[in-house]
Amino acid sequence: MLPVPHVAIIVVAAGSGTRLGAGGPKAMVGIDDASILRHALRGVFEAEVAQVIVVAPATHQGDALTDALAAAGTRRDLVTVVAGGSTRQESVAAGLRALWPDVEYVLVHDAARALTPAGLFARVLTALYDGLPAVLPALPVVDTVKRTDGPRVREAVERSDLVAAQTPQGFRRDILDTAYRVADHEYTDDAALVASAGHPIAIVEGDPLAFKITTAADLDRARHLVSPAPASPATLTAPQVFPRVGLGTDVHGFGGDGALWLAGLEWPDEPALSGHSDGDAVAHAMVDALLGAAGLGDIGTHFGTDRPEYVGAHAEAFLSRTRALLDEAGWRIGNVAVQVQANRPRFAARRSEAEAVLSAALGGAQVSVSATTTDGLGFAGRGEGVSATAVALLLPA
Ligand code: CTP
Ligand code: MG
Repeated sequence: MLPVPHVAIIVVAAGSGTRLGAGGPKAMVGIDDASILRHALRGVFEAEVAQVIVVAPATHQGDALTDALAAAGTRRDLVTVVAGGSTRQESVAAGLRALWPDVEYVLVHDAARALTPAGLFARVLTALYDGLPAVLPALPVVDTVKRTDGPRVREAVERSDLVAAQTPQGFRRDILDTAYRVADHEYTDDAALVASAGHPIAIVEGDPLAFKITTAADLDRARHLVSPAPASPATLTAPQVFPRVGLGTDVHGFGGDGALWLAGLEWPDEPALSGHSDGDAVAHAMVDALLGAAGLGDIGTHFGTDRPEYVGAHAEAFLSRTRALLDEAGWRIGNVAVQVQANRPRFAARRSEAEAVLSAALGGAQVSVSATTTDGLGFAGRGEGVSATAVALLLPA
């Protein structure tokens, strides 16, 4: 059997929300996919193991129960829902009638202060536990305050001793019960009602996040506060916190002038590949894999045929420029693996030499080269050209 809580939190949510004008009870209006009430109850359940009494509009007790049970998590046993009255004071009174016998301290909280952090409940409770009978969270008034006479200013009000009252307001249960029983008219809040019964009210520091959602502008503010921060340009273009892979392929036909250049090596007695540059399909596949992994376009984006400096250029020029582009974007190369499909040249004897040259062009990143024939099939099998496929892994720099 779980211990019975000595604290109750009454969440008044039975108002109609006239000033918000949302066409339904204010507490049921969504901030995001959760209602004002659901948000308010998150702070409540995080704050303390307490009996939680939700005072709901009579027409929406089912919705209030759904919200309360969702916020309660494993402590559904703590939830009570009751119907409210036609004024806030009547609603609080309805909540008080539902208190469990063992409750010694009562916090009364407006659901409309939906984003009140759990820490504010804790601050009020600590003051009660310290022996104060009635506790009001409040913030200094920062605006200059005027007393008016219709449309005219009558006088400025000295603001240095003014505070703006918030909720949750906390009370010893016996004091609150008695004060409500003897109250003979409407008070603006529970602290005023208890003060009129002769009790001192202690002030603890409020919290700006405990602001009350009253108007559409307040609701906008709450929506803004709960929405995730938009991605900044930096987070869109800079590396994400996970690795990225890229894939590249390239094909060149034999028929170029001079000697063959492939995988960053010159192969003096082999037929040359044709291409805008040296036709090094291995290097070009690697460039596409690397740029693709970084989301930086492809080889045509950076080394198109409109770039005369790459006419006849070798692997080193392409790869070192690619590495510089990755550096600028905040990427580090994990590794690159590339496979050549070709009858010739024979890679076995020069594999490590090729890997060393390609790796050096990428600043020392691991590069592995494999080669295969195609059993005489396709253009590679017929000796018309070579194809290469590369995969690259990038890590945040
Ligand atoms: N409240 C209540 N029962 C009422 C009136 C108000 O439980 N009869 C609650 C509201 O749901 C709100 C809190 O008291 O959580 C503070 O009231 P307020 O912000 O004034 O809300 P509404 O009365 O709903 O709004 P309005 O005054 O604009 O109609
Ligand atoms: Mg009201």
